[in-house]
Amino acid sequence: MSKSTSNYSPIMNTYSRFPLSIQKGKGTLVWSDNNEEYLDFTSGIATCNLGHCPPEVEKALSEQLSQLWHTSNLYHIPKQEELACLLVEKSCFHQVFFCNSGAEANEAAIKLVRAFANKNGKKKASIVTFQQSFHGRTLATVAATGQDKIKSGFEPMLEGFTHLPYNELQSIQTIRDMAPTAVMLELLQGEGGVVPADPDWVRELSSICKENGILLVVDEVQTGMGRTGSLFLYEQYDVQPDIMTLAKGLGSGFPIGAMLAKEEIAAAFLPGMHGSTFGGNPLASTAGIATLNVICQADFLNKTVELSQILRSELEGLQEEFPFIKQIRGKGLLLGLEISGNALDLVKLALNEKLLILTAGPDVVRLLPPLTVSKEELYSFIQKFTKVLQQFREVHHG
Ligand SMILES: Cc1ncc(COP(=O)(O)O)c(C=O)c1O
Repeated sequence: MSKSTSNYSPIMNTYSRFPLSIQKGKGTLVWSDNNEEYLDFTSGIATCNLGHCPPEVEKALSEQLSQLWHTSNLYHIPKQEELACLLVEKSCFHQVFFCNSGAEANEAAIKLVRAFANKNGKKKASIVTFQQSFHGRTLATVAATGQDKIKSGFEPMLEGFTHLPYNELQSIQTIRDMAPTAVMLELLQGEGGVVPADPDWVRELSSICKENGILLVVDEVQTGMGRTGSLFLYEQYDVQPDIMTLAKGLGSGFPIGAMLAKEEIAAAFLPGMHGSTFGGNPLASTAGIATLNVICQADFLNKTVELSQILRSELEGLQEEFPFIKQIRGKGLLLGLEISGNALDLVKLALNEKLLILTAGPDVVRLLPPLTVSKEELYSFIQKFTKVLQQFREVHHG
């Protein structure tokens, strides 16, 4: 390809992009380069949980910008320690490793599981993950992911992963027989179609893990940081995982990832075994602290739950009017509508109506408004979305 041809792009061709350039964002709204206003129900894929440019994070980052940006992890980073303390205080874990993305957090979790197995004399660690799961795009996390379309073309896969059916009792039986080193799962599969894990299944899975010394790893990259109505989704399942991964919402859009573990498991990492140049640098940690402080304000998550109930009941109203909406799933403000028809076609129609929404697989429309969305914005969304559904019905179900 020549640099002078009209279809040349300096960006590698890894994403099919919508015809929209976003220049500015505030709260739930974004503006295109020709100043058209859009209602953003994607939150940068569950990342800008406090909306665009949240003032608390903006203020903290501005102050940090004039102090210190980056030092490396060869020195103590007080802001990183402060963020680790906050995360530990708010969760059942004891120690944190910081990195820059969800895939890196899961990569760190996989390495920790292997280091823990090795330390305990097991040379070949094995990890069970689930069909339709999504854990990232690095080679280890692609191997962990339970979707062929993500793996295809990148073989040979890293060894040591077995994918079992999600939400199936038979999988628990298999796990008991296999006795793997760890089980890694999303308690609500996001990319895989907005599918929550069944609470009884998770309780059973957790007790099999505890009884057999199998580590339970929860990938909360998409579900964490208040997205589902509690700070972490595992709290709603009443289980105590051994390892948890976070990213997306942790920095409100500033890149940061984290892997949290119980003390005895974290102890398998020694100096030199794992690292990241940027992980938890002063800027990223500042964004994380400011974000967490907002989410942990009294009543913040109660409001998320209330907003979720409003959105859900409005969507249920629409389901009666548009029976091609087969099911409404999800938790908090991570909601999915399974439709009969192509979800991407619906998302494209929504774009014309100045609504940004997402798919989660071929037939699921995913809604991820910021947790700070106002009730007025929810009702305005429903009004515009109704128009989109009418158009979709005319084209596909008329
Ligand atoms: C559950 C889950 N894990 C991991 C990832 C990968 O995160 P990242 O894109 O930050 O590497 C994602 C991204 O969508 C995710 O939803």
